[in-house]
Amino acid sequence: MHIDLQKDDGVALLTINRPEAINALNIAVLEELLEAIAQVESDDDVRVVVITGAGKAFVAGADIVHMSGFSPEEAREWSELGQRTLSRIENMKKPVIAAVNGYALGGGNELAMACDIRVASDRAVFGQPEVKLGMIAGFGGTQRLTRLVGPGRAKEILFTGDRYDAESACRMGLVNKVVPADELLNYCLDMAKRIAGGGTQAVRLSKEAVNRGQDLDLENAFSLESVLFTALFSTEEPHEGCSAFLEKREPKFKP
Ligand code: CAA
Repeated sequence: MHIDLQKDDGVALLTINRPEAINALNIAVLEELLEAIAQVESDDDVRVVVITGAGKAFVAGADIVHMSGFSPEEAREWSELGQRTLSRIENMKKPVIAAVNGYALGGGNELAMACDIRVASDRAVFGQPEVKLGMIAGFGGTQRLTRLVGPGRAKEILFTGDRYDAESACRMGLVNKVVPADELLNYCLDMAKRIAGGGTQAVRLSKEAVNRGQDLDLENAFSLESVLFTALFSTEEPHEGCSAFLEKREPKFKP
């Protein structure tokens, strides 16, 4: 098993644990990740997911041993499996925080970018070194990176294959926040619990509005927001949230 799953207080912590290859993603890891995502998505006790890596790395990329002898057909299947897995995370109904504890290179950075929020340890290292291996990012990285940091910075990162420390990644908009290494997990779990305190559907539809809206023109994106805002009012959540505010109590949202 390469994915450890722990649950506590509405938060699932998924730890990628493949120490012999610095948590590199091979078929087994991707398949276990897909299974773990399906499991936490259908579990009403889980409201928010945190993904991290065991040891000194988040994920050191896609498995280079696995890719070394690829035919073009095998390369296509691999890219499609990676893209499908990361898009599954991006599109899952529950919010996902990447707790980037160390190296997030190649497919590791691509995994972090598929999460909704990225928090980095001050020891984290980011980069897309694929050109040094004679290939390009194939798990959605060329596109997610461009959306996160803009085409100019994305091209620099992709063309040079350079590594960036956590502060540089934060300045570029690749990560939301940098925290000391020994505070990373608590910081992320605390943020996850604050998110878990909000309306379940409200958080879910916020995610949907941002994800779907960014590929629409502004007029259609506003329409989407209005449709989702309206949809919430056929649930109990806005009524519970507003009543709790007016009654000066904490809201109680259903899973
Ligand atoms: N795939 C397979 N094995 C890997 C790996 C990877 N991505 N990264 C590290 N390993 C293996 C090493 O080969 C080594 O194995 P052995 O003990 O059998 O020699 C073991 O993990 C330990 O690695 P190092 O000795 O290199 O550890 P280090 O601490 O000196 O360096 C590192 C750590 C900087 C992460 C370095 O291992 C490294 O640069 N790894 C490769 C990073 C990379 O290029 N990632 C991009 C992959 S391409 C990709 O991801 C494409 C895509 O989008 C689909």
